[in-house]
Amino acid sequence: MIIITLVLELIGKTGKNTLAWMWLISFASALFSIFTGWQLSIGSSYPENQLFWHKWLGISVAAISFLLWAITKFVEKRKNLFSGALKVGLIVLLSLGGHIGGQLTHGNDYLVEAAPGFIKSIAGYNPPEAVDLSGIEPDSITTYEHLIYPFLEQKCAKCHNEKSMSGNLDITSVEKLLEGGDGGEVVIPGDVDESELFRRVTLNQNNVKFMPTNGVPLTYYEMALLKWWIENGAHFKEQTATIKMPAEIMTGINKLYKIDFTPKPWYEKESGPKIDTMALEAFAQGGFKVSGMSKSDNYLEVSPLGTDLGSPIDFGPLKENIIILDLKNTEISDANFEKLSELKNLIRLQLNGSNTETEDLLKIAPLPRLESINLYGTSIDDGALDYLASFPSLKRIYTWQTQVTPEGIAALQGKRPDISVENGIN
Ligand code: HEC
Repeated sequence: MIIITLVLELIGKTGKNTLAWMWLISFASALFSIFTGWQLSIGSSYPENQLFWHKWLGISVAAISFLLWAITKFVEKRKNLFSGALKVGLIVLLSLGGHIGGQLTHGNDYLVEAAPGFIKSIAGYNPPEAVDLSGIEPDSITTYEHLIYPFLEQKCAKCHNEKSMSGNLDITSVEKLLEGGDGGEVVIPGDVDESELFRRVTLNQNNVKFMPTNGVPLTYYEMALLKWWIENGAHFKEQTATIKMPAEIMTGINKLYKIDFTPKPWYEKESGPKIDTMALEAFAQGGFKVSGMSKSDNYLEVSPLGTDLGSPIDFGPLKENIIILDLKNTEISDANFEKLSELKNLIRLQLNGSNTETEDLLKIAPLPRLESINLYGTSIDDGALDYLASFPSLKRIYTWQTQVTPEGIAALQGKRPDISVENGIN
């Protein structure tokens, strides 16, 4: 209203009576704003200093609107220096008062938060950035410092810091956070329902008590982490790796910070015995395709170039380097089945489409690290499953188009529920 009235004054085509009415309505709406603002401030914990200025700037805006009404209505020569100065003053007070009001409800940085980068840099605004902890050794991570505080700092600290202690709460240091706010302590170790810090972020977003009052709410995983931290005693120094971590928390930490707490398989922790390059060359010349798994380890994937393996394969010193062996669609002799027993580090064995039968499998001593075996399209039967149950690390068996029966699979899973059988549609 005030701005419209000022513009109409400037254009100069509106009659005195209309303008007087406009000033009166401006005054009334200013009064109304003062009333609602005053209501909001009762029992609230807005920073006092800002509240003081917002209140008095608002009151002066109302007072000047009233004066301008009086001048417009009663003063003969109403366009004088005094009323001009009042109008300029009004614009200044209105902008300032409005700005401080914005800071009160939306935080001090509300103006520049969403602004383009160059405006942010002019305003000297550099918000805390998203954290990438991927370089850090998981063992050296402290739950609060590395996993909880970063998002609190990002999403709450602009209103809850030393200077602007909304709700009398400062979260920027552990000591202050522990002191809590107007309502007392905000973190109750082990009790999320009583912990105001958690309760506020999980309220319905329309609730006036919802935090943050402005800006980006906590994400699903941030809430999950906060809850997990409080439930586990809200420790400030604890190493994350020392506490029990549900799978969901592991996923959350990975998503938020790119740290991987999932237990690593042995072949990612060890790099294997050094490869004997002479033996490797000789082996490859014997008719095998050999490829390295990664630059940082000595593990190999091997497959024959032809389909007839012929004479017994000599794995030589490469025995422990081979972790994947692909013998699909090949003719494997009895001697070669026995040879496979030497591959103590084998993780994956592909025998699909080969001549493998159940009694052939029995010639392979249980491979300690074998995780996956593909027997698709071979003539194995339930006896093979029964034998494979003795392979301690086995996780997956592919049995489409074999003699394996549902009963055989059920019997295996009774013994080894950790093995999944991919039986496709027979
Ligand atoms: C834009 C400003 C702003 C942001 C951002 C903000 N808060 Fe608040 N917070 C307030 C204000 C204002 C109050 C006081 C009014 C009230 O209690 O609702 C408050 C009060 C609180 C209180 C109650 C303190 C007490 O003891 O009375 C808690 C707890 C709280 N905030 C937590 C948070 C958390 C957690 C975040 C981040 C997810 C956050 N706030 C982000 C403005 C903010």
